[in-house]
Amino acid sequence: MTESGLGYQWIQSLHSYLAYVVLAILFLAVANAIMGWINNKMFTMEKDLRISLFALILSHIQLLVGLLLYFMSPSGLQAIQSFGMGGLNAPARLLAVEHPFINIIAIILITIGWSRHKKFMEGRKKFKSITIFYGLGLVLILSRIPWGQWIN
Ligand code: HEM
Repeated sequence: MTESGLGYQWIQSLHSYLAYVVLAILFLAVANAIMGWINNKMFTMEKDLRISLFALILSHIQLLVGLLLYFMSPSGLQAIQSFGMGGLNAPARLLAVEHPFINIIAIILITIGWSRHKKFMEGRKKFKSITIFYGLGLVLILSRIPWGQWIN
């Protein structure tokens, strides 16, 4: 990692810290939706809508920061340009290809879950939509976190 641009370092740190916040709020949103679904609760504006909307917005902010990072980081697009797809080893491929690609899919799923929940009147169906789509998104994100370089 030879790149030492201030902009890159700033965006990289932001992406790294924001990851804690995004994972925490997504976890909360999914747990809350599961409880609401199982217990057949009413979907409230004050709590349920707010948690799901916060999770949506923060995931989208992380998506934008991630996209910036993809073009600024030596581990993103530059890695593919330097070594070619076939020239990347597993950890390099995780950062340059799998993590960005899977996380974009995950955030699309979360966005679908949000849009679908609005179409339903019944709380149960709203909670079910959030549970399934946010839950799948969260699992996909967790499956492609570069744990080794994040927490060390
Ligand atoms: C919710 C979605 C996301 C989460 C939770 C997340 C989380 C993370 C974490 C924890 C790291 C390691 C940071 C570190 O080393 O301290 C990382 C690195 C990275 N992420 Fe994401 N990310 C997400 C979405 C994205 C997206 C959508 C892209 C690109 C389109 C992206 C591009 C990158 C790149 C290129 C790196 C490597 C940066 C470097 O080491 O120079 N991320 N991400």
